[in-house]
Amino acid sequence: MSKHSTIRRKTVPDIRSRKGGEPIVCLAAYTAPMAQMIDPYTDLILVGDSAANAVHGMDTTIGITLDHMITHGQAVMRGSQRALIVMDMPFGTYEESPEVAFRNACRLMRETGAAAVKLEGGVTMRETIAFLTSRGIPVMAHIGLMPQSVQVTGGYKITGRSKNEWPVLEADARAVEEAGAFAVVLEGMAEPLADKLTSDLAIPTIGIGASATCDGQILVINDLLGMSDWVPKFVKKYADLTHVVDEAVKSWAEDVKSRNFPGTENTYPMRGDD
Ligand code: KIV
Repeated sequence: MSKHSTIRRKTVPDIRSRKGGEPIVCLAAYTAPMAQMIDPYTDLILVGDSAANAVHGMDTTIGITLDHMITHGQAVMRGSQRALIVMDMPFGTYEESPEVAFRNACRLMRETGAAAVKLEGGVTMRETIAFLTSRGIPVMAHIGLMPQSVQVTGGYKITGRSKNEWPVLEADARAVEEAGAFAVVLEGMAEPLADKLTSDLAIPTIGIGASATCDGQILVINDLLGMSDWVPKFVKKYADLTHVVDEAVKSWAEDVKSRNFPGTENTYPMRGDD
């Protein structure tokens, strides 16, 4: 028999209903301990394919697989209780056809217990988003700067700086909304366009390097905590964990070298014993 927690997880309709209301707090995270630490403060945790860079040391998000993502999703589900968990669909698992996308989205939801998926693309993903949402798979869309297309675009470029680009991006936004997405990530998008889309769309916009007027914001937890040497310009670092880890490990290494660490006497019982 399954154990039922009294703590209620946020649902897709909860997030959808926040349009124009209290800003939606979202973070991308990949492990159980991190999920446990951020869960009390987040409405939505994205198991992002940014795990490719943040965890696996890859240069782009292209290399992460469905199996990697499932492992991260299971860990984040174990560590969290309150936030809605959304699984990013990795490159190559949804673009081919709505049927392929459905099969892989089912694996992501069934094998992790997460409630929704995210995929990149606007007009080109209209049919796929409609196919998934009409078959029980909630979809968060992602338009603007799309990291999985970096080999086509040639880099991580802000979108919508020129008004000439706006009609295409506006069509993308309308397409994902009409197809049934419950929210849309606007990544690397010029502020005036992100503002306009936020007021035009009936679904919540989640900004990352977009605009403070978006209905919510998302960041990669590693960037917020200063866990890497480089972070995008729009990220405000709220901590400098690289420095903290460096100091801690340096101290430990010094203690080991000077044999200044405890032996076994009085250091047990272990966790869980009283
Ligand atoms: O993979 C990711 O972390 C993302 C967000 C930052 C939007 O797609």
